[in-house]
Amino acid sequence: MNTQGPLLEVQDLQTHFSTDEGVVKAVDGVDFTIRQGETFCLVGESGCGKSVTAFSILQIVQDPGRIVRGSIHLRQDDGQTLDLAAMDPKGRALRRIRGRDIAMIFQEPMTSLSPVHTVGDQISETLRLHAPIDKLQAREQTMAILTRVGIPRPERHFHAYPFQLSGGMRQRVMIAMALICRPSLLIADEPTTALDVTMQAVILDLIKELQGEMGMSVMLITHNLGVVAEVADTVAVMYLGRIVESADVYSLFREPKHPYTTALLRSIPVIGLTKQERLATIRGMVPHPFNRPHGCTFHPRCDHFMPGVCNRSLPPITHLEGGRTVRCFLYGGADTREREER
Ligand SMILES: Nc1ncnc2c1ncn2[C@@H]1O[C@H](COP(=O)(O)OP(=O)(O)OP(=O)(O)O)[C@@H](O)[C@H]1O
Ligand SMILES: [Mg+2]
Repeated sequence: MNTQGPLLEVQDLQTHFSTDEGVVKAVDGVDFTIRQGETFCLVGESGCGKSVTAFSILQIVQDPGRIVRGSIHLRQDDGQTLDLAAMDPKGRALRRIRGRDIAMIFQEPMTSLSPVHTVGDQISETLRLHAPIDKLQAREQTMAILTRVGIPRPERHFHAYPFQLSGGMRQRVMIAMALICRPSLLIADEPTTALDVTMQAVILDLIKELQGEMGMSVMLITHNLGVVAEVADTVAVMYLGRIVESADVYSLFREPKHPYTTALLRSIPVIGLTKQERLATIRGMVPHPFNRPHGCTFHPRCDHFMPGVCNRSLPPITHLEGGRTVRCFLYGGADTREREER
């Protein structure tokens, strides 16, 4: 994929939920960059903060969630950058960004589709909210995008309500609504897990095709490392609110650096596995959000745990060749830390 400069730069993002029982640090110091035209995949076990990271970008984190620190710089068409984290979540400026510059599709289409409006009305209203066009033009463009995402007989489906469509069709409608304003970034949070395997492949191919046509960037959140291998340019691996490793997709799969990434990759099913060679699982459990281990939060599950090092302080981000990053004492940071403690 031919990629250009940075489109979105997230730095030290922290999004916390203050509850009666304590503070859940769902996103706890996340840094990443999404370049123009690339597919950036965010992976990690359930509960590690992938969705909250995505919601933070659009400032649609559920109460009591708040961005408590960090910046989210979005580069606009005119070359100016805006810090989305510093904008009023309810303000007009951010409402204009949502849908026009950054659109999001969810695992469950009914999260973003209204049950009481027709498909055509919803898509054309989204368009008219962001572009100064009349109803007729909006209708024509809606019909065109419905055709483009593979909805048969769009003139008929224009008047359908979401509940009258199959799961796959609803997902296509949601993609049409997300793409109608030609956003520069599409965030797709587990967009296909509710669909059967064949339809998953069809929808992912469709997103890839439209991405090529429109030149947009895609941030794809998924559990499915098979999908990541197929579509990603860059991959970031998250564990308990932090990115523990990021790399281009080839390097990550060929030579994972972080023990957590290695463990995740070992848990991918391989065709031809015999009964004796059971699928590996990652040892131990994801700790409770209120009870995070000290130091590197992965240390209780890690095969390379170094007592007195990994459980003492948080490993710093180490920059490796090829733009890779890893947060692990195996790659640096331990010596400095020990000197500091002496
Ligand atoms: N409304 C909320 N109140 C309190 N904690 C929350 C809330 N929403 C999310 N969290 C916490 O934030 C953490 C990250 O959740 P998030 O939904 O981002 O995980 P995820 O990586 O998207 O998981 P999954 O793969 O299951 O979708 C979890 O510990 C979760 O319990
Ligand atoms: Mg999620």
